[in-house]
Amino acid sequence: MKVVVTGAAGFLGSQLADALLKSNSPLLITQLVLVDAIRPAQRSDPRVSVLALDLRIPGAAERLIDADCNVFFHLAAVVSGQSESDFDLGLSVNFDATRALLEAARRTVPSLIFVFASTCGVFGGELPDVINDKTATMPQTSYGTAKAMCELLINDYSRRKFLDGRFVRLPTVSIRAGRPNTAMTSYASGILREPLNGEQAVCPVREDQKIWISSPGTVVHNIIHAATISADVLGDWRGINLPGFAVSVEEQLRALEEVSGPKAVALVRFKRDEKICHMVESLPIKFDNSRALKLGFHVDTNFVDVLREYIQEEQNKKSGSI
Ligand SMILES: NC(=O)c1ccc[n+]([C@@H]2O[C@H](COP(=O)([O-])OP(=O)(O)OC[C@H]3O[C@@H](n4cnc5c(N)ncnc54)[C@H](O)[C@@H]3O)[C@@H](O)[C@H]2O)c1
Repeated sequence: MKVVVTGAAGFLGSQLADALLKSNSPLLITQLVLVDAIRPAQRSDPRVSVLALDLRIPGAAERLIDADCNVFFHLAAVVSGQSESDFDLGLSVNFDATRALLEAARRTVPSLIFVFASTCGVFGGELPDVINDKTATMPQTSYGTAKAMCELLINDYSRRKFLDGRFVRLPTVSIRAGRPNTAMTSYASGILREPLNGEQAVCPVREDQKIWISSPGTVVHNIIHAATISADVLGDWRGINLPGFAVSVEEQLRALEEVSGPKAVALVRFKRDEKICHMVESLPIKFDNSRALKLGFHVDTNFVDVLREYIQEEQNKKSGSI
């Protein structure tokens, strides 16, 4: 099968590409096209081709979607902080480019399984105590608004059989390797990653502020799983809140101390940032995972294990074993 991944030079897109190429991937890949505005890293696997392409360019969608395409993972996006500071850029990448892809699929290959990386940031405002897949969305950011609009379109395109869409709402993914990004929730990784590297970190929110998270490995597994679910099982609502769990800053720092000692925790200082606090406080922290778990999605067990897994993977990278 031919699979395309957009955002393939990004944090999750590159891990998704690697996972798809593994022998235990549930998708039997014969061709994998990796696309991003920044050229994705070439793999030694002959099934892979890489393409540097800005999805905002007219005709970009048509270049990516042809009649041979079976599955399309759309992860390219401008994340929350940047979408908030540059409204036009956010809307053109997160909404207009997605719409162009949906249209190209409609015209070329209506059987296409289209998996869209959405976000729990579609929720906000006054919320029920527990969120489920059908809770109404009231995003508090331009990023969440663009994602929510794409979700509705994917639902409607699927209802009309223009394509076979699914959107997965990702929790905040933590711990994110590499450098900080422009997501407003970036601190959730920074307060662990930087101290583990012996660097100072600033926490912009209160110690008791909780956040709904999932580890990168679990999220990547779940994004792939979304492509394998039958459309009949999904029914007329193509959205799934990916399972996660709530963890406070305090609990994250306790896990850091357990795994790395008090010196690491001492590298974190608190400096409140009103804008980030406001956005993070608007995010829900209690979801009903039951539909997703019934559909076979995975959930992490606890934060200490997530932290240990991150440390192990970083060590593997340094020793060159992955
Ligand atoms: N990481 C998280 O915590 C999280 C949480 C919720 C949702 N998501 C969603 O998951 C997806 C992947 O997130 P990530 O953390 O890997 O983000 P990322 O920023 O690491 O990757 C996004 C990629 O999209 C590419 N891109 C941006 N504009 C583009 C354009 N015009 N044309 C082509 N490529 C373009 C970027 O170059 C980047 O490599 C995104 O859709 C994001 O909204 C992520």
